[in-house]
Amino acid sequence: NANRQPMIAIDGPAGAGKSTVARKVAEVLGLFYLDTGAMYRALTWFILKSGVDLGDEPTVAELASQCQIDFVNTPSPSVFVNGEDVTQAIRTPEVTARVSAIAAQGAVRAVLVRQQQHYGQRGGIVIDGRDIGTHVFPDAEVKIFLTASIAERARRRQVDLKNLGQSDVTLGDLERAIAERDRQDSTRAISPLRKADDAIEIKSDNLTIEEVLGAIVTLYQAKTASL
Ligand code: DC
Repeated sequence: NANRQPMIAIDGPAGAGKSTVARKVAEVLGLFYLDTGAMYRALTWFILKSGVDLGDEPTVAELASQCQIDFVNTPSPSVFVNGEDVTQAIRTPEVTARVSAIAAQGAVRAVLVRQQQHYGQRGGIVIDGRDIGTHVFPDAEVKIFLTASIAERARRRQVDLKNLGQSDVTLGDLERAIAERDRQDSTRAISPLRKADDAIEIKSDNLTIEEVLGAIVTLYQAKTASL
């Protein structure tokens, strides 16, 4: 697409560090950043608040079309649903436990994917999720599949939770929860988590954030120099 600036798609499982890395890549390269996981979370929050049955797909689809999701960057990165700040609310265990069930619904994905494609139509964006390189923007110039072992992702999550004052969660519990979410996200019928054939896989177990950042920035610069 000649009218589009290059873009970077970053996919991978929960806890591999996608959003931290994607945000920094966008900052360093002066690109926009879109966190599509936050969109599925925002919609899940909206549906839980409305009290409808999560399995009632027609009603969930109707609510999806009434759920206006906005990203605001100043003074700090925030997410709004119909004008209400939900930045913290979409990270609660309640939302995290239920978002896979919402993200598995075809009508929900159709609504959110259309918004993502609209948001990214001019390019110049870093967009992270599960199906960006395979489905949302299959022609993205740079595609990254960012992974880490379950043990490493559980360890990082435990550090995050400790920093939030929650030190009572065991590594075993975290590993089981992460494995279960991986299973749900990669076995669902519609747009499951999968590495695109032309994505570059980065396994972050033994890499710092700066090293992952550097690798992606270098790939992007090489790609745009050759365009
Ligand atoms: O990356 P995250 O944990 O914030 O994502 C929340 C959920 O949304 C996760 O269970 C998978 C789903 N998701 C998706 O199905 N497709 C995307 N493009 C992004 C997230």
